[in-house]
Amino acid sequence: MTRLWLSELSAHLGEEVEVAGWVYNYRSSGKIYFLQLRDGTARLQAVCAADDVAADVFARCGEITLETSVRLKALVRADDRAPGGLELQVHDLEIIGRAEEYPLQKKDHGVDFLLDRRHLWLRSTRQEAILKIRSTVETAIARFFEAREFLRVDAPLLTPTSVEGTTTLFETDYFGEPAYLSQSGQLYMEAAAAALGKVYCAGPTFRAEKSKTRRHVMEFWMVEPEVAFLDHDGNISLAEDLVTAIVRAVLEERAAELETVERGVAALERVTSPFPRISYDEVRKLLAKKGFDLPYGEDLGGDEQTALAEEFDRPFAVEKFPLAAKAFYMKRCGDNPELTYSFDLFAPEGYGEIIGGSCREDDLPRLLENINAHGLPLGPLEWYLDLRRYGAVPTAGFGLGLGRTIMWICGLRHIREAIPFPRMLNRFYP
Ligand code: 4AD
Ligand code: MG
Repeated sequence: MTRLWLSELSAHLGEEVEVAGWVYNYRSSGKIYFLQLRDGTARLQAVCAADDVAADVFARCGEITLETSVRLKALVRADDRAPGGLELQVHDLEIIGRAEEYPLQKKDHGVDFLLDRRHLWLRSTRQEAILKIRSTVETAIARFFEAREFLRVDAPLLTPTSVEGTTTLFETDYFGEPAYLSQSGQLYMEAAAAALGKVYCAGPTFRAEKSKTRRHVMEFWMVEPEVAFLDHDGNISLAEDLVTAIVRAVLEERAAELETVERGVAALERVTSPFPRISYDEVRKLLAKKGFDLPYGEDLGGDEQTALAEEFDRPFAVEKFPLAAKAFYMKRCGDNPELTYSFDLFAPEGYGEIIGGSCREDDLPRLLENINAHGLPLGPLEWYLDLRRYGAVPTAGFGLGLGRTIMWICGLRHIREAIPFPRMLNRFYP
């Protein structure tokens, strides 16, 4: 008999099957054990009655503890009361690994207690649902770019330079030379776009953010498309289409998981492109009405993001930030060189920025001016300047933060639950 996954059992109604999994809950009433089984693909009740099994099998049920792993031979039967409509009637049971007293109980544990045991916490119904949604988001992203004939290109993680400011660099020693963990694959994607046209990378990026907020982690996964000949409007449209495709995939494929995390789908069903677009100036006015004084030329902080994102019930783009507020590579607007062809895509309901993007400065003297203004050393960026020297074209792209996107889609209060093993200020265990 080959072992089946629990998710496969609906096709085997009335059959004798072999399954295996972990017992995440159980109770007994003398002559009968009710075992709640999970194997990652589904959750199901297995019933072991003294009358149905040999005495030694029934005795083994008495040894089961929370999170003990078992292998079963059982009959798949319909049960209207069971979630999923199926139940297993056990005929044989073998213990694979008996669990010691399991530290995670049904009661409410503090979040530090849970984070210390993140490796076990992942087994809970809620964390399992979030991980499944995350996987669907990643698959939807790959499908989106595949359908548009983008090529996936991998960016290096050990890099000689900063992309997003020098204050958040993780420095390490590269055989005597300083190296930094990548803050963004963007500069490498610009080189790849000049070779391949439409590209994207998707991988971990690092920021030594010395702030302890619900939106920041030190290590996060970012998806960064970069497209040759793309303009500002086209860049925002690409971001809108990507976010819409991600949300649609989650709605279609993860309805049960959204229910598990208690995320109302009405807010997600409103996500259809195009999204509202507002300018940086309008943002400052909107914030002023809410009692925030954002000095001209500054980027939005956490509280400002929350306040602004509370004003919207669907995603929206903030566009054309002043040069001073953003990174050195952003292209200045033709009609106003103080502003840039940049945008941030915000998630509504107080969530805030999930995407940052721009057109890239393709004019070499202006790019040099910006690099100097940001106080960045030229040496490690020499190769990047070559992209302007040899057939520069208008190029645009953006970075979508996976953790923040999942935090919003799942309706999580904190980004730490959106990442399997979050790296936070003062925490990189387990
Ligand atoms: O706005 P950022 O810094 O943009 C860039 O890195 C560009 N180089 C991307 C590009 O144009 N190719 O970061 C992009 C996104 C943010 O919108 C946010 O979602 C996420 O990355 N992000 C973080 N997520 C979690 N923790 C942090 N510390 C993050 N910093 C940025
Ligand atoms: Mg940003």
